[in-house]
Amino acid sequence: MSGITNTDLQNASGQKSFVIWFTGLPSSGKTTLAFHLKEKMEHKGFRIYLLDGDQLRTGLNSDLGFTEKNRSENIRRAAEVAKLFADAGHVVLATFISPFEKDRVMTAQIIGQERVKLIYVKCPLEVCERRDVKGLYKKARAGEIKHFTGLDSPYEEPLNPDMVVNSFDKSVEDSVNFILQRLILNGN
Ligand code: ADX
Repeated sequence: MSGITNTDLQNASGQKSFVIWFTGLPSSGKTTLAFHLKEKMEHKGFRIYLLDGDQLRTGLNSDLGFTEKNRSENIRRAAEVAKLFADAGHVVLATFISPFEKDRVMTAQIIGQERVKLIYVKCPLEVCERRDVKGLYKKARAGEIKHFTGLDSPYEEPLNPDMVVNSFDKSVEDSVNFILQRLILNGN
């Protein structure tokens, strides 16, 4: 996928609007990175909307579970919402496991290839499981949760991400700075 230029970062009215889509295993660090990126970008004058999987699943997508079909529908709706916010002039930071390549391709089709940057938050399964931010790996190991990503539901590594952030050997600050540099934000 292509790099992003300053021109890409502005819509006709001068307001920047695009989508940064974070994908990765549970507890890989998607939400943490997005949260810190949000703070830094707001500081630079961007209007940010954080769109998170857990948040969407308690409301709009509360009818969906974690089968492959349900995850696809979850991602489709998430992409449509992200597009609406981007159309309204926001930079959207979307954090979804989004484990399937075909669904990530679909998000780019919905939002527009040039308006979405895919960041793969890469972290070994063992490290994610050790972190277990929400205690869900433990529950899944105990058989209390089915179709858990990384255990009994697959995670397909992105074939062509715009960026790969190794969250296991970099601090959050370094990772956020790495992302910002890649977005060429100088002057914004
Ligand atoms: S996705 O696969 O459809 O992209 P999404 O990012 O929206 O998933 O939601 C993942 C969140 O749902 C996790 O952060 C976790 O809190 C919760 N969750 C509950 N059950 C599962 C499961 N079986 N697999 C993965 N996440 C789950």
